[in-house]
Amino acid sequence: MARWNDEDLYLLLRDGGKAMGLSATMPGWSRLATDQEIRDMAAFVRTLVAEQP
Ligand code: HEM
Repeated sequence: MARWNDEDLYLLLRDGGKAMGLSATMPGWSRLATDQEIRDMAAFVRTLVAEQP
């Protein structure tokens, strides 16, 4: 997680792996969740790890 800043983590969750140069296997949430919900997801995932970037 340390290499993901907040904006890129948000974009990864919104648009999926391919949009961020990773595997297209990871889908994005843009059709299923609002921007605010995706930002909230990114913030929640941060709470699961101790190290902050
Ligand atoms: C809220 C749900 C999810 C979160 C928070 C999440 C988060 C992440 C993050 C942060 C990475 C990058 C890891 C790294 O830096 O190496 C990642 C990679 C990946 N995710 Fe997800 N993910 C989610 C859901 C999913 C789902 C549903 C799938 C597949 C069905 C998936 C498949 C993958 C794959 C295959 C990669 C590796 C991509 C690569 O290294 O090329 N993810 N995910």
